[in-house]
Amino acid sequence: LRVLVLAGGLSYERDVSLRSGRRIVDALRSTGMTAELHDADVSLLPALQADPPDAVVIALHGATGEDGSLRGVLDLCGVPYVGADARTARIAWDKPSAKARLREEGIPTPDWVALPHDRFSELGAVAVLDRIVDRLGLPLMVKPAQGGSGLGAAAVQDAAALPAAMVGCFAYDSTALVERYIPGTSVAVSIIDLGTGPETLPIVEIVPRDGVYDYAARYTAGLTTWHVPARLAPAVAERVSSTALAAYQALGLRDLSRIDVIVSEDGEPFVLECSVSPGMTETSLLPLAVQAAGVDLGAVLGALVERATG
Ligand code: DAL
Repeated sequence: LRVLVLAGGLSYERDVSLRSGRRIVDALRSTGMTAELHDADVSLLPALQADPPDAVVIALHGATGEDGSLRGVLDLCGVPYVGADARTARIAWDKPSAKARLREEGIPTPDWVALPHDRFSELGAVAVLDRIVDRLGLPLMVKPAQGGSGLGAAAVQDAAALPAAMVGCFAYDSTALVERYIPGTSVAVSIIDLGTGPETLPIVEIVPRDGVYDYAARYTAGLTTWHVPARLAPAVAERVSSTALAAYQALGLRDLSRIDVIVSEDGEPFVLECSVSPGMTETSLLPLAVQAAGVDLGAVLGALVERATG
């Protein structure tokens, strides 16, 4: 099978995506598949038309790759791909839309407000931020509504720090997601479906050295410690895995995803976000979970490719 691995692109996560893409290419080649990396730029459409691959693996992170637009192009070209379809990606990738869907299904997710930048000019920034603090309390998490890798995200302990966090967030997106911050244990649940239904992999617990899981902590070796499986009581771990699976199903995800969860101090899981195109770098969480499950990453990706072409 000839597989095109799409990576790079023009999102803020371009570098991460190239690292994910190279790892996916190596993993697929180790299984004997012919895999090529393609930087997802304007040359993509002619390349797909001139020499359509048997399947595409989308290693793009951020806009285009995760927001459904590229998946729509692949649908148009009739090229099968691994992962969520265009419509699912569009909803799962947009944090406020995904959280609304989870809440409809009764899946716990921290309370939130989605704040478009325009609201500041309509009502005045001070009034808007006061209202948010009144409604959600403190501390808070501020994140771009769309985006990943911790870019533009900040924890806010007191109201005085909120304006600076908003400015940092609006540098990455015109809508901010302001979320109630739940202290607890950060974990990630990877889910794979090789054709027999979605299965959860061992839970990865994330302990950043400096307490903040920002871009540097995610992608610099040594800045984060992982515990796999997570150090959770068995009943809590069971609840975390079943909640993540419920989130995967509620959003209609397909093939593979990583569900990020915070486990509160009293052992309740809250879903933070669901990745449509989980990182595959050397410090990313889904490959760690695959390894902990005793499975080869190439074998998993190869099976997903075969499933996509089937
Ligand atoms: N956005 C990064 C790549 C992730 O979810 O792993």
